[in-house]
Amino acid sequence: MADDLAFPTGAEVIEENRSGLIGRAVDRVDGGAKVTGRAAYSYEIQEAGQALYGYVVGATIARGRVAAIDTAAAEAAPGVVLVLTHKNAPPQAEPGGPPGNANRLAGAKPYLYSDEVKHFGDPIAFVVAETFEQARDAASLVSARYEEAAGVFDFSTQLDNVTKPEKAFSPPDSAVGDFDAAFAAAPVQLDETYITPIQAHAQMEPHAALAHWDGDKLNLFVGCQLLKASQASVAHTFQIPHDRVRIVSRYIGGGFGGKLCMYAEAILSAMAARQLGRPVKAALTRQQMFQETGHRSASIQRIRLGADKDGRLTALAHEGVVHTSRMWEFTESVGAQTRRLYAAPNRRTSHRLATLDLPGAEAVRAPGEASGMLSIEVAMDELADRMGIDPIEIRRLNEPTVDPENGKPYSSRNLIACMDEGAARFGWSQRKAKPGQDRRGEWWIGLGMSASIRSNYLQPAKCGLHLTTDGRAVIRQAMTDIGTGTYTILAQIAAEALGLPIDDIDVEIGDSSFPPAPGSGGSFGAASAGTALLDAAMKVRELAAKLAVEDQASPLFGQPPETATFGGGQILIGNHAEPLTKLLQRSAPDGLKAMGECVVAPNYFDYSQHAHGAHFCEVAVNALTGEVRLRRMLGVFAAGRILNDKTARSQAIGGMIWGVGQALTEENHVDPRYGSFESQDLAGYHLPVHADIANLDALFIAEEDDKGNPLKIKGVGELGICGAGAAVANAIYNATGVRLRDYPFTPDKVFPFLPPM
Ligand code: MOS
Repeated sequence: MADDLAFPTGAEVIEENRSGLIGRAVDRVDGGAKVTGRAAYSYEIQEAGQALYGYVVGATIARGRVAAIDTAAAEAAPGVVLVLTHKNAPPQAEPGGPPGNANRLAGAKPYLYSDEVKHFGDPIAFVVAETFEQARDAASLVSARYEEAAGVFDFSTQLDNVTKPEKAFSPPDSAVGDFDAAFAAAPVQLDETYITPIQAHAQMEPHAALAHWDGDKLNLFVGCQLLKASQASVAHTFQIPHDRVRIVSRYIGGGFGGKLCMYAEAILSAMAARQLGRPVKAALTRQQMFQETGHRSASIQRIRLGADKDGRLTALAHEGVVHTSRMWEFTESVGAQTRRLYAAPNRRTSHRLATLDLPGAEAVRAPGEASGMLSIEVAMDELADRMGIDPIEIRRLNEPTVDPENGKPYSSRNLIACMDEGAARFGWSQRKAKPGQDRRGEWWIGLGMSASIRSNYLQPAKCGLHLTTDGRAVIRQAMTDIGTGTYTILAQIAAEALGLPIDDIDVEIGDSSFPPAPGSGGSFGAASAGTALLDAAMKVRELAAKLAVEDQASPLFGQPPETATFGGGQILIGNHAEPLTKLLQRSAPDGLKAMGECVVAPNYFDYSQHAHGAHFCEVAVNALTGEVRLRRMLGVFAAGRILNDKTARSQAIGGMIWGVGQALTEENHVDPRYGSFESQDLAGYHLPVHADIANLDALFIAEEDDKGNPLKIKGVGELGICGAGAAVANAIYNATGVRLRDYPFTPDKVFPFLPPM
């Protein structure tokens, strides 16, 4: 049959996994460079020569205009070479431009383009000096007089003044059946409101950039997640052709959505470097990161569940109001995963926006569901508790067979399998059904669980691959590694497909001049970039096989090329073999090159595609203080084939820890006097630290999903956070009987409701 003679497309090769590299807990291939300091992050780039230092000056009002700005003292300060303000900055495109541009992240991001102040910390000047200290000192000498306008900062006052999202990734509304009638008729009704606060990305690496113009071409070294979108954004800002902007982002110390778009340090460094003819670099301070870059919106979410006497949902509604900023629209789509999660014939979800005068609200790890599952997953626990049904059993009762809102089949769904596996491993059967039953000394102990779900995406991508005559494979792709392990999984895929040792793979990513890839965001990176690489590798295999069988000097001469396999640096057909180096040195002196592609197949959208999981948590709540301590936590996930058990687990754990932060410590608030964020450093904004995270583990159950991509993988970067905080909330309830709905559950909120000692 013709099919038998077709060249493999890649899926079979990954399936075969001859090297055993796929799935193995391979150490990060960039780990050595990172821990020895050889991995240069944007601010540390030396290749452009000595750079000048820029320092951003932010507005001290939240809305209005700069009426006057005095830069004389700063300009006269030692070492200062340039002070940019709106008065002398070069012309730039309008924000979001060019007109008609639909992709916010690729649109113009001008700074110092007008006297308008749109939020507290909005840059009003950029001071460039020979040293960092000189720039920072001179920045303190810039003085501005403002005409202040009234701003809107208090989310809670705007809940009746909302708009419908126009640019949201998820539709703002969904409805199936007749929710109102079904809810009214339901024998069991739950109607509760949940509140989540503003949260920060809090990446380890500050926003940093180094700009160097090579003639009329900009080289911009900047920590950014999306190279091609950022390239377009910078080109649009300065109104120059895309090919005159090169974005380089080789190593990134965390993104989480906070480095999706360009910020002041990048645009202003580029502007100053162009004017001065010298490299300029700038980093935002931690305080500036809080005040000037993105944040996760606050939300208020109403959940209504109507159930029959057996616990089956007849009506489900999830309606959320979140804040957006006047600068640009961004929607935290809190109900997006509720649409996929539970069966109920009558349903309604909606997202509405309250507009505040804050810096742009932004995607933060699992935008939408990271907030939304803090409500729906507690509501399900409340319903289970009210009906005397085990929390896993109520989810089992409401497990849909197809996507409950669009009727599409799931590409794969092992949600209940994750719950069952987790329950067995965690000892869920030890949980006491009635809350407040287990006190040990001054601590109440309790167990909670929640579901996890995160959509699985795929984006178009390309990948260049060069198999050299010395037997190395060089991958080139405008892809990024924001700390997730992209370097490593790409090396694994190439090594497996080409039968080479992993040390012989050179992964060159983080450069916009390489073949386009979507970058890191939305958990689509590994699938999109990896699929393009696999395609390239299969094309190189085909080239090598044809070369060998047509080469009289090769021991493979005359063999059927379709059956070639690759291993140990050799190409093998039947019982014939030849080292790739020997073949190439003799017959392909330039090596072999191919361009791979990831194409999103039209039938991709015939399926409802998500990764799933279940969180289990045990907490101790102090009966005297209300302090909540994590005792144990386990996440069990089904996310397709796992490429690397170490980096994937690391992502899952990182997400879960963030969920613990959402539940217990993370919150920011706006100071209504200034429109500034109250917490602006890691002393005020409380992230969990090692001492807060006890016995936390994550594992993946076997799953392959052939509906998304030939690797049969799903994204894992955002799955771990989804639902994690709700498991903590549910454990607090089980420990104490205290049901809280206003995150985070700090001791002051827990303590007043604790049962008497
Ligand atoms: Mo993500 S929040 O799309 O980096």
